Amino acid sequence: MELQNAIESRRSTREFTERKLTKAEINEILRAGILAPSACNMQSWYFYILADEAEREKLKEVCADWISAAPVVFIVCTDDNGIVSRFGERGRKFPMQDTSLAMENMLLKATDMGLGGCIIGAYKQDRLNELFNIPNEHTAVSLLPIGEPKEKIPPRDRKPLGDVSSYIGEEPEEGEIKPKQFELKHAYLPNAEFSDIGLPNALFDDVNLSEAKFNNVDLSKAEYGDINLSGAKYSAANMTGAEFKCVELNGAKFGCCEICESEGKYCVEMKEALFDSVDMNAAKLNHCRLESSVLTDVKMAGAKLYDIDLDESDLSGVNMVGSRVQCSNLYGASFKNCCFANASLESCDIEGMTVDGVNVAEAIEAFKAKK
Ligand SMILES: Cc1cc2nc3c(=O)[nH]c(=O)nc-3n(C[C@H](O)[C@H](O)[C@H](O)COP(=O)(O)O)c2cc1C
Repeated sequence: MELQNAIESRRSTREFTERKLTKAEINEILRAGILAPSACNMQSWYFYILADEAEREKLKEVCADWISAAPVVFIVCTDDNGIVSRFGERGRKFPMQDTSLAMENMLLKATDMGLGGCIIGAYKQDRLNELFNIPNEHTAVSLLPIGEPKEKIPPRDRKPLGDVSSYIGEEPEEGEIKPKQFELKHAYLPNAEFSDIGLPNALFDDVNLSEAKFNNVDLSKAEYGDINLSGAKYSAANMTGAEFKCVELNGAKFGCCEICESEGKYCVEMKEALFDSVDMNAAKLNHCRLESSVLTDVKMAGAKLYDIDLDESDLSGVNMVGSRVQCSNLYGASFKNCCFANASLESCDIEGMTVDGVNVAEAIEAFKAKK
């Protein structure tokens, strides 16, 4: 998950599923915590981990009942003696700052792992140490229950920036933030899922994403090079201006996608692909293998197809107005309810190709003979 996504989707989570967390997952969260900055790198934090159900039950004595239902509760403590003796009075706030930063890192990491948590300030401070035999030099600053959220939580409102911030002196120019390019290289990620995510200008290179699912993903101007996307499913994906090079898309399914103006160059394998309600207007496809594909309700107006294998494919409701198909194999392809106004077919193999059930090669022969 991108950092921005983790920041945006983190929610204080107070209801959890039964799913337990492994030690590896707990360590992953803790590690994110200890990577936080700390005053003079003194790392004034200490974490007690309540994964044991019987121990968590004891929490009910000091805080709200729902907290002990989380699969893991961290007791986030600080050992503030060292800091205060080093920095004196001004160091008093440092342990609180150190632990707060660690907790935010832990919450973001948890979000990244599909988990959620909540910083808890409301608990009986004076009973906690005794209850869990925590030495007095460790002062608890928070409880931090973490687990898998039971349901999706809507975001809480934030005050507008203008209410909580102001410039002192001159303001900088307005400017704009350039979207960061998402890059995925040399990865083996079969069955990966991408959903509700913006990946404009993404670069996929030497990646195995077979059987991957793309749902509501902005992949406009994405570049795919040397990539295996066989069996991948795309729905509601925006792939405007995408570029495909040496891509295997065999058996891929495209539903309600915008692929207009995309370019499929060199060896794009899309055998048995399924395109349904896909906008491919003005797309350029060169040297693509699309045999035995099914294209339904596809917009291909103005598209340029060169050296395409569409043999034995089924095309219905395809708008090919003004399109140009050259040096392509349409052997046995079936076109139904398609629109070909101003379209051109040049140097193509059309043997066995039918348009609304009519064998085109035979019809042309019959027409020539009549002439
Ligand atoms: C210092 C601190 C103490 C908090 N204490 C509690 C608490 O005792 N109980 C609770 O349910 N939530 C607690 N929260 C969570 C806040 O209610 C929550 O962060 C806030 O409502 C914003 O919601 P969000 O985190 O989902 O954006 C605390 C948060 C902070 C930062």
